[in-house]
Amino acid sequence: MSSKDEPVNLRETLETIRKDALAAIDGAADAESLEKARVRFLGRKGLLSRALSGLRSVPPEERPEAGKVANEVKETLETSIRIRADQLASLADRSEVAPVDLTMPGRRPWRGGVHPVSIVIDEICDIFKELGFTRAAGPEVETDWHNFTALNIPLDHPAADMHDTFYLDEGVLLRTHTSPVQARVMMEHDPPVRILAPGMAFRRDPYDASHAPAFEQVEGLAVDEGIDFIEFRAAIDYFVHRFFGASTRTRFRPSYFPFTEPSAEVDVSCMICEGSGCAVCKRTGWIEIMGSGMVNPAVFEAVGYDPERYTGYAFGMGPARIAMLRYGIPDIRVLYEADVGFLEQFA
Ligand code: PHE
Repeated sequence: MSSKDEPVNLRETLETIRKDALAAIDGAADAESLEKARVRFLGRKGLLSRALSGLRSVPPEERPEAGKVANEVKETLETSIRIRADQLASLADRSEVAPVDLTMPGRRPWRGGVHPVSIVIDEICDIFKELGFTRAAGPEVETDWHNFTALNIPLDHPAADMHDTFYLDEGVLLRTHTSPVQARVMMEHDPPVRILAPGMAFRRDPYDASHAPAFEQVEGLAVDEGIDFIEFRAAIDYFVHRFFGASTRTRFRPSYFPFTEPSAEVDVSCMICEGSGCAVCKRTGWIEIMGSGMVNPAVFEAVGYDPERYTGYAFGMGPARIAMLRYGIPDIRVLYEADVGFLEQFA
């Protein structure tokens, strides 16, 4: 170390201090020994300040340079102490963490849920499955033959008009209903046939609280020998009781569809007011849930089924409307907008 008579090589001393100090800092196993190292090297009476007192014996022209080196060493040591202190602190944190409790239930991230319309579609399909129906699918881009002609809808019918239908090309369109799946299934399979075909349908409708230009339908079709209106009605009653509840009543209202004869709109007693009349059922006590009817023999002829031998029934319902009724959703648009806050309720 410095002595008054011996000239010191201050630089060398500083280098030694730096090396020794760094070794002590890195080797400090806990906060206490780190603090000891700090005091020993950087303390007021520490090795560094003692070495600096030797500056006085350095020739004046070398002092600035020696001072600079001394400062660098000081900064290096301070930084190293801070880093080592952080390391020791996080090591201490880790060792304080409670042991893992393997019996504790995990935290489940939200993985999304089933959309309310899909919930309704799945339930409809599950109930009809009990009656022997399987699922079928057809394309959303259809030919006008499947969408209209095979279903006994002439192409000059208002439903086939440019104003109601999205045409993609001549004779090619976005299906306006899921009924063309009836034609496709019958072209592919011989009777007996019992299918449900959920899917999207497209119409030039406004987008407002009760309409959407793209919306779901669930098509149903049963064809066999000897199917009569009574079987049809029994199947619909079974579905209504299972889906809406045993006390729900069903009403068939005469209607018209070119592909069914006779045709009926199916109403169920309002599940909100139980038939006494409210805003949801527009004071009628009834809510329409589907169009339906006995398959028109003209459709059997179009798809190559023997209309003398086979009879059947078909229906089409709108699961979005049904979801709105069931969950009390006042505006259809929330079903088509990706509002996670809304959808989370069904997770
Ligand atoms: N396809 C008809 C519609 O979209 C509904 C329907 C289906 C009616 C099957 C009768 C039979 O309105």
